Amino acid sequence: MKIKIMAIAVALGLALGQVAGFKDAVAADVRALRDSPVSAPDKAPDVYKVQDGVKHERAYRQQPPLVPHATEKYEIDLKVNQCLRCHEWPYSDQEKAPKISDLHYIDRNGVRQDTVNGNRYFCTQCHVSQVDAKPLVENKFQPAVTGR
Ligand code: HEC
Ligand code: HEC
Repeated sequence: MKIKIMAIAVALGLALGQVAGFKDAVAADVRALRDSPVSAPDKAPDVYKVQDGVKHERAYRQQPPLVPHATEKYEIDLKVNQCLRCHEWPYSDQEKAPKISDLHYIDRNGVRQDTVNGNRYFCTQCHVSQVDAKPLVENKFQPAVTGR
């Protein structure tokens, strides 16, 4: 019993020590993304150029593909969804736009519907235009590769 308590105490001590060490390391490295003091107004956000026609690869299998065209003029609200006039079948054939995949028609109970389901109606919640933005912080991100 005594040994058990000792073991737990040692494990706890180690864990706490690690958390403290980790916190110090993070504090030394982390820099706020905001470069002006909190009391000063934000500087205007950068304006990025949409990368039209370029096709960015997906970084992992489940990633919603990036949009290879501008989207800010397409209205999405209760009455209209202008994305659908090109991406919904049969318009997708006429517009030569990729058809929305069947997963967009499945409701939260797994039942297939005939129209785009509410959980995928607001397209720009998941799909954003490709822009020439630089990474916010330097990083070594590598796309996931299957079979590794
Ligand atoms: C006028 C027709 C039109 C409208 C409206 C439109 N798109 Fe597109 N979209 C296209 C075409 C054409 C392509 C293929 C372009 C290419 O591959 O360069 C495309 C490509 C895409 C892709 C890439 C699919 C893939 O498999 O890589 C996504 C995602 C997308 N659009 C989302 C949207 C969203 C979200 C909206 C609304 C905000 C929208 N589109 C509105 C015509 C349209
Ligand atoms: C909840 C997130 C989500 C929303 C909302 C959403 N999508 Fe997607 N979309 C995805 C994901 C994830 C994929 C990739 C997997 C797949 O094919 O379903 C995808 C794939 C696509 C593709 C490529 C299909 C293919 O076969 O290459 C198109 C085009 C597309 N979506 C258009 C749209 C449009 C238009 C809307 C709005 C009506 C929309 N999406 C709403 C997540 C979303």
